[in-house]
Amino acid sequence: TWTPANVIDDQVAIIREQVGDARVICGLSGGVDSSVAAALVQKAVGSQLTCVFVDHGLLREGEAEQVEVDFVESTGVQLKVVDARERFLTALAGVSDPETKRKIIGREFIRVFEDAAREVVEEAGESGSEVKFLVQGTLYPDVVESGGGEGAANIKSHHNVGGLPDDLQFSLVEPLRTLFKDEVRAVGLELGVPEVIVWRQPFPGPGLGIRIVGDVTAERLEILRAADAIAREELSKAGLDREIWQCPVVLLADVRSVGVQGDGRTYGHPIVLRPVSSEDAMTADWTRLPYDVLSIISTRITNEVREVNRVVLDVTSKPPGTIEWE
Ligand code: XMP
Repeated sequence: TWTPANVIDDQVAIIREQVGDARVICGLSGGVDSSVAAALVQKAVGSQLTCVFVDHGLLREGEAEQVEVDFVESTGVQLKVVDARERFLTALAGVSDPETKRKIIGREFIRVFEDAAREVVEEAGESGSEVKFLVQGTLYPDVVESGGGEGAANIKSHHNVGGLPDDLQFSLVEPLRTLFKDEVRAVGLELGVPEVIVWRQPFPGPGLGIRIVGDVTAERLEILRAADAIAREELSKAGLDREIWQCPVVLLADVRSVGVQGDGRTYGHPIVLRPVSSEDAMTADWTRLPYDVLSIISTRITNEVREVNRVVLDVTSKPPGTIEWE
């Protein structure tokens, strides 16, 4: 019978058999799949695993800590954190075109991850073992989508790890290959992965970088992060987390409008709420959130985030609008 515990037992045996006593590396993003895959490999081979977390500075409030503190404490993984926030800001300076942003973020991510992977290999070399394996959180639907082939062809987009350099040859460890998302969540809970990670809604690899319409700056990230944290907090409080697929919060950084806040006239930015209901993100409908929840979110954002004087609701389905604004 299918139980999370059985899946874990089976996969632990398979992983041990596959990797032997070699070293294993895993890129953590804060998302469900990479976290559960890492926790499973950790259970199987413990200290042979090193996880790498690239902090690109485009995560939401509290997400880096969820990886660095909560995930590490609950699983005991050995974690290498790379603080690449400045590097990403520099690379993104002055760029407002969405696809260019994605390319830059993807390119920088791979470079930073490669450097970190190389360091792990070198450190492991000193202790006499080799890194040969790379963990990927590939799920069954990903396998089907990519034709079921083995190996690197399954590494999808830039938020996963692709195009590793020639001197770093890894075999892939993909312990979630037979599982659907809800099964991955059950396995994650059984492994003790924190609920905030297990139940995290989809979040794009380029993160807040593609939720600032306009170019990305440290100040704009701070504004968006504050507004997003308020929206998420209130949606959670209202018990709506599992009802909505996701709710991008978008900063229209190049748009300004007049407002009256506190003592006088302001010339601030709008924040867009984009709550959507969906089965698979291919199509989506805008979620009819309760007016009182919208009202609290709007009041709090305009009171607490000085630079924002307007909150607007996106009532577009997909198609024609995509879920993200960029
Ligand atoms: P769209 O905006 O295309 O989004 O309707 C569909 C789903 O994909 C997510 N998304 C991304 N995820 N890298 C990712 O990892 C990306 O560049 C990216 N763009 C969109 C989006 O959040 C939604 O769940």
